[in-house]
Amino acid sequence: MNYQKHILITGGAGFIGSHVVRLFAQQYPNYQIINLDKLTYAGNLANLSDIESLPNYTFVKEDICNYEAIRELFIKYQISDVIHLAAESHVDRSIKDPFTFAQTNIMGTLTLLQVARELWSKSEKGFEDKLFYHVSTDEVYGALQMNKELFTETTKYDPHSPYSASKASSDHFVRAFHDTYGLQTIISNCSNNYGPNQFPEKLIPLFINNICQSKALPVYGKGENVRDWLYVLDHAKAIDVIFHKGKVGETYNIGGCNEWTNIELIKVLIKTVDRLLGREEGHSLGLITYVTDRAGHDLRYAIDASKLKQELGWSPSLQFEEGIEKTVRWYLDNKEWVEQVTSGTYQQYYEEMYRGK
Ligand code: NAD
Ligand code: TYD
Repeated sequence: MNYQKHILITGGAGFIGSHVVRLFAQQYPNYQIINLDKLTYAGNLANLSDIESLPNYTFVKEDICNYEAIRELFIKYQISDVIHLAAESHVDRSIKDPFTFAQTNIMGTLTLLQVARELWSKSEKGFEDKLFYHVSTDEVYGALQMNKELFTETTKYDPHSPYSASKASSDHFVRAFHDTYGLQTIISNCSNNYGPNQFPEKLIPLFINNICQSKALPVYGKGENVRDWLYVLDHAKAIDVIFHKGKVGETYNIGGCNEWTNIELIKVLIKTVDRLLGREEGHSLGLITYVTDRAGHDLRYAIDASKLKQELGWSPSLQFEEGIEKTVRWYLDNKEWVEQVTSGTYQQYYEEMYRGK
C-alpha cells in the first residue's frame, strides 16, 4: 500500500493518545499510523484492542528518549509527520518525582525534534512536506484569578508545578526548532480532558470509581479550584482539524468553555453514579473528605478557544451532562479495565499518596 502520510503518534496507548490513534487510523485509511509508546503505568494496549488489526495501524514499544531507536524507526517507516502526545501527565506524581517529568517531557520531546530535524532536512523536499505537531496543556500559562479572564494564545507562560514546567519547556523547544532550524511545527494547548480510558488517578475517573466502591473522595483544600473540562473525543477532533488545517508556526488553544469548581463537579459525579447504580439521591455525599491542599495548587484554568473556532471552525460537540453520563457509564461497564490498570503498583502509589491526609 502506498500511504499518503506515515504519521508517528507518540503516547498512543495513553488516555488522549488512544482516542487520537483510533480517530486517525479509522478515518484515514490512506495514512499509516505508527503508535509509539513506552507502556508506562499509564499506557495500556487494551485501549486500542478494537483497531489493532487495521492494516494501516502499527504499534511500537519504545521510549521517546532513545535517540537511536527513534532514528531507526523514522527511517524504517519513512515518518512524514509526528503528533506528539507521550508524556508524564499527572501533577501529583510530578510533585513527588520531578526528574521523570523532565526526562520524558523535556528530553523526550527534544529527542524527537532532533531526529526529525536531522532526517527530514536530508529528505528530498526537506521540511516542506513534514509536520511536527506537539500536544500540550493550558497549565503552562499558570493560574487565573476568579474573574472573567481566560488564557489566550498570547498569555505569558507562568508554570507552577513540575509537570507544567516540563511541558512549558517542551513547548519552548518546539518553538525554538521552528524559529532556529525552520522545522514545521504546530502546538496546541488544551484544557482538562475527561472520558473513557482515563487512568483513575485523575479527578473524574478516580472519583467515579471511589463513589462506586463507597470509598472516601479526597477533595484538595476547599474544593474551590476551577477547571475547564473537555470531552476527550472533542480534543481528538480538534487535533485532527489542527493537523490538517492549522498554520505552521502557530499555537491553538483548545477548551470546553465549561468551567466547574471541583466541589460542584464532584456533586454532579455523585448524583450521576448514584442514579445509575439505583441508589437514592445524595447517598454518597458523605464520602466527600476534605484533605490537605496540593502544593502549588493552581486556582483556576479557563481557555479562550475563539482562535480555533474562528480560524479553523472547531467547537466542542458534546454537552457536559451528556459527556459525564457517557463517561460514568463507560467506567461502570468496564470494571475489568479499571481492575487491570489499578492493580499492583498503582494501588501502592495511591495508598502512599493518601496516607496521613
Ligand atoms: P497519559 O498519562 O494517559 O498517557 C501518556 C502516554 O505516554 C502513556 O501511554 C505512556 O505510556 C506514554 N509515555 C510516557 N512516557 C513515555 C516515554 N518516555 N516514551 C514513550 N511513551 C511514553 O496522558 P494523557 O492524559 O493522555 O495526555 C497526553 C498528552 O496530552 C500529554 O502530552 C499531556 O501533557 C497532554 N494534555 C493532557 C490533558 C489532560 O487533561 N489529560 C490536557 C491537555 C494536554
Ligand atoms: P487532576 O485531574 O489531577 O488534573 P489537573 O491537576 O491537571 O488539573 O485534578 C483536577 C482538579 O481536581 C485539581 O484542581 C486537583 C483536584 N483534585 C482533588 O481535589 N482530589 C484528587 O484526588 C485529585 C486527583 C484532584
